[in-house]
Amino acid sequence: MKSESEVVVRPARNLRGSVSLPGDKSISHRYAMLAAIADGPSRLKNYSTGADCASTLGCLRTLGVKWERKDGAGNVLEVQGSGVSLAAPSAPLDCGNSGSTIRMLSGIVAGQKFSSEMAGDESLSRRPMLRVITPLTAMGAQITAQDGFPPLHITGAQLKGIHYQMPVASAQVKTCLLFAGLLAEGETRVEEPLRTRDHGEVALRAFGAQLERKGNEVRIRGGQRLRGIEALVPGDLSSAAFFLCAAALFPGSQLTLTNLLMNPTRARLLDILMQMGLRISVTQLEEVHGELVGTLQVEGGRLKGATIAGADTAALIDEIPVLAAIAPYTENGIEVRDAKELRVKESDRIASIAINLRAMGAQVEEREDGLKIPGGQSLLGAELESFGDHRIAMAFSIAALRAQGETLIRGSECVAISYPEFFSTLDELVER
Ligand code: S3P
Repeated sequence: MKSESEVVVRPARNLRGSVSLPGDKSISHRYAMLAAIADGPSRLKNYSTGADCASTLGCLRTLGVKWERKDGAGNVLEVQGSGVSLAAPSAPLDCGNSGSTIRMLSGIVAGQKFSSEMAGDESLSRRPMLRVITPLTAMGAQITAQDGFPPLHITGAQLKGIHYQMPVASAQVKTCLLFAGLLAEGETRVEEPLRTRDHGEVALRAFGAQLERKGNEVRIRGGQRLRGIEALVPGDLSSAAFFLCAAALFPGSQLTLTNLLMNPTRARLLDILMQMGLRISVTQLEEVHGELVGTLQVEGGRLKGATIAGADTAALIDEIPVLAAIAPYTENGIEVRDAKELRVKESDRIASIAINLRAMGAQVEEREDGLKIPGGQSLLGAELESFGDHRIAMAFSIAALRAQGETLIRGSECVAISYPEFFSTLDELVER
């Protein structure tokens, strides 16, 4: 993001109100990509308003896909499916800040009859891509990249199915390979070391593909055709996490979140917050195109601590910044382990969290693969950096609500990557 802006966050008394969140980022990316290679039109309501999902749409347009966005009521995206064959791009595919765009879409362009270049901003250019380059090359694509970082130069090919054991637990990589597998000859089997979010599998089924899961392995047969869908994207649970954690900070809080994504592979945050003391009730639970959606009501209470490790770390990977940011206010603190992946996100999130917590006067132990943050601390308002990382900017806006004095966050415009409406919605919900 180019021009830097600052935001000042003042302490709050509690959070109250009802909100319906913009569409989930993970699902929006997948729906847009699959709608592009489906037969017939798709109509996607509540498509994510974030810049990352707009990057996916920009790339699809460069690949000849026709789509139209109606930003008014319902925020509808209409996509004319091109079928499996996209058009050769006349310019590099600009993935902006979006790891999801470059990793997942690489699986589709690798199976096309043309060459393409995928590039992004400075932060994206530091994110590891060998995790997709290695398996896509094994399937028959030719990919060059400097030391495994973007830009990627991809020469597409008739891919061949593989059996791949992923060394890193990554839903982006799993999805990339399932998309590539759809375009490949034969069967592709992807085995993940830990269960990661399954939106790729769920979305493929929604568009008519058949997949099989056995334990941690997913299988897809190549050559299946997709058909366009009409869908309502559920509200983003990772964006909701900021308000849920804010509510948890104040015993008087009462919050209702409607049309919220509750997919069990994403909802671990709800269990953790309940264990920590937040009272949560779920109503109007239903399945929409294979995704669980419901209304969540929460009330703040005591805030105990937590340890997040192993499979929980993978399941909570996008929520750890905000959990860590509120950790000093908990009774027993929060320890995060097995989280090396946080170092290769939009920023080095372990370092970003430690620097900002210390700037607010907290004690923090920073480890190579995690953090230990003692509880029972009070924080002081401070001048903080977003490090150009949307989840860091939002996480520390929440920590600031219970600090003494005001907090200034530099580079706050980066919240637009996933949630442009974040500050205005926070203002509506906060009581001071
Ligand atoms: C995502 C997977 C996660 C997550 C990212 C979205 C997805 O990344 O951090 O925000 O939609 O599949 P990794 O696949 O790198 O773990």
